[in-house]
Amino acid sequence: MSFDLVVKGGRVATATNVFTADIAVRDGKIAAIGEGFNGAEIIDATDKLVVPGGIESHCHLAQESSTGMMTADGYESGSISAAFGGNTTIIPFAAQLKGQPISEVLPTYDARAAPSVLDFGYHLIVSDTSVSDFREDMLAVFERGVTSFKVFLTYDIRLSDDQFLDVLEIAREAGALTMVHAENNAMIDRLRAEFGAEGKLTPPYHALSRPEEAEAEAIARAIRLARFAGAALFVVHVSSVDGLAEIAGARAAGLPVHAETCPQYLFMTADALARPEGGKYICSPPLRGAETQTALWQGLRTGILDMSSSDHAPYRYDETGKLANGGDDFRKIANGMPGIELRLPLMFQAVQDGRLSLQQFVQLTSANAARIFGLEGRKGTIAPGADADLAIWDPEARWTVRHAEMHDAMDYSPFEGMEMVGRPETMIQRGRPVVHGGALRAAPGDGQFLHRARYGA
Ligand code: URP
Ligand code: ZN
Ligand code: ZN
Repeated sequence: MSFDLVVKGGRVATATNVFTADIAVRDGKIAAIGEGFNGAEIIDATDKLVVPGGIESHCHLAQESSTGMMTADGYESGSISAAFGGNTTIIPFAAQLKGQPISEVLPTYDARAAPSVLDFGYHLIVSDTSVSDFREDMLAVFERGVTSFKVFLTYDIRLSDDQFLDVLEIAREAGALTMVHAENNAMIDRLRAEFGAEGKLTPPYHALSRPEEAEAEAIARAIRLARFAGAALFVVHVSSVDGLAEIAGARAAGLPVHAETCPQYLFMTADALARPEGGKYICSPPLRGAETQTALWQGLRTGILDMSSSDHAPYRYDETGKLANGGDDFRKIANGMPGIELRLPLMFQAVQDGRLSLQQFVQLTSANAARIFGLEGRKGTIAPGADADLAIWDPEARWTVRHAEMHDAMDYSPFEGMEMVGRPETMIQRGRPVVHGGALRAAPGDGQFLHRARYGA
């Protein structure tokens, strides 16, 4: 029997197994796993690692921030950068502007997403529940396969507890997943005012103004409100010891609470904010200390944290981005760091260092995202019938992070100069190469919109 493509002799890792096999592809799907297959095209994967293509489920592309600043990356550069970083699926955010009817949001992002080289979905961002037809329009969004949405408990787009309960109830009824950016806004406002009055405005004060306590309080509240509403919850970018403990408690109680952290919280500390261009490392929640890193690694190993996403929020370190308002007042510096191309290589360092197993690497970078975000059976696995979305890695490749060699539209990487072992070389999407031989093989628009299943379906 002949196939369209055979990936031969690689060491294959899934969320549960590691084995050596050929992977045979027909009509964009995995047709068989075994040995001795023939195909129209053969990729020799001897001495390589073959894993499911990464699913980047927290990234901001072609999106205005809460203060209205457009990200440097759109869907073309963002998806290309993601692909070179070992991903084959992206789920960025489609953000409602304040006052904007929900019905206008997806059409706006459909136009912005058209040049994606990777398959994509969206999470809706809800910033205003007072718009007309809110409930009906939310239901229509879920019907379109956008089955998750994010709300904020901080920034000017934050929801009150009452509004948060409203959306949790809609989500419960419709089988959608509510994602939450959890930081207590009142605590942060007080600290910002205090530091402002004292002229303490350099980047390190950004971290001091958003303490772990603010995150832990908001995570605890979000979990309790979700439990009250009977709804599932996904806590984004967890970076606090006590917040993590709240999530562990919810999981132990059997609540449908999921959570992620991000490589920046695992590989960097708040010390970076004291560097000469400290504004580059401003993100929210902020970078933390070494003890928090230890707890987050433990959270990943024990499965309390379901994934490590990049939270790629690309604002250049120039007057179009971080320096648009001068750069000498942390309160006026855009929040966010780039990382879509390095998320998987960074998490692979944890495999090299013995912190994570290969199976955990797959769980945390694709399989769990597929399960939680309605793509199970289709993405995030290497099994007959699934989309042939594969990443072939050279697990021994030694390289140094150089932003100049990366593919995003940014002008820096927070991880510049890091020494890495292991690199994704060939990314295959639905049986077709997206990146191969160091070059992009896909064209803008090759990515398809993913209609995702309801939460828990
Ligand atoms: O600082 C960050 N993470 N900016 C991106 C927007 C958000 O809060 O996720
Ligand atoms: Zn956030
Ligand atoms: Zn984010």
